[in-house]
Amino acid sequence: MPVREVLKIGHPLLRQPAKEVEDIHSDEIRTILDDMRDTMIALNGAGLAAPQIGVGLRIMIFGVDSNPRYPEVEVVPQTTLINPEFKVVDDNMESGWEGCLSVPGYRGLVPRYNKIIYQGMDESGELIEREAGGFHARVFQHEFDHLDGILYPQRIKDMRNFGLEQELFPA
Ligand code: NI
Repeated sequence: MPVREVLKIGHPLLRQPAKEVEDIHSDEIRTILDDMRDTMIALNGAGLAAPQIGVGLRIMIFGVDSNPRYPEVEVVPQTTLINPEFKVVDDNMESGWEGCLSVPGYRGLVPRYNKIIYQGMDESGELIEREAGGFHARVFQHEFDHLDGILYPQRIKDMRNFGLEQELFPA
C-alpha cells in the first residue's frame, strides 16, 4: 500500500472530470482507497480525491481528528465517499482559507456554501447521507470540486487573497 505521488496544479488530469465508479467492491477500488488513505496520512492532508493520485474516478476521502495542539480546528469525521452528490441547504456562502496537497505551500480565501446535505457510498456499499456545515461542508465541497476537475484557486474571488502560506501568515 504505497504512498502515491500527488499531482500538482497544472497537471492535465487535475482538470478532467472524473467518472462514476461502477463496481464499488472491485479489488481495484480497494487498492485505490488504501493508497489514498496512506497518501493522505503521510502528507498530513484533511482530504484527498482520486484524481490527485492520477485516478479519474469519483472517490474522495476526508477527515480531521481532534488535535490537542490545534484545539481551534473543527473535527470532521473520517469519511470515504464513492460517487458523491450534494444539495445546497442554505444559499449563504462563507469565505474561509483553504490549502490543497496539489497546490503545495499556498493558501487562498474561498467562498463555499455554509450548509449542505451530501451523500455517497462508503467502500462497503453503505449509503452515507449527512447534513454538514462550516468547515465540514467546506472540506466536502473542496474534494467534490476535484472530481469535476476544479482546484480551489479557480474559486477565489479576489486574487489578493491567494499566496504562499508563510507570506500570508508569517509566524
Ligand atoms: Ni485539494
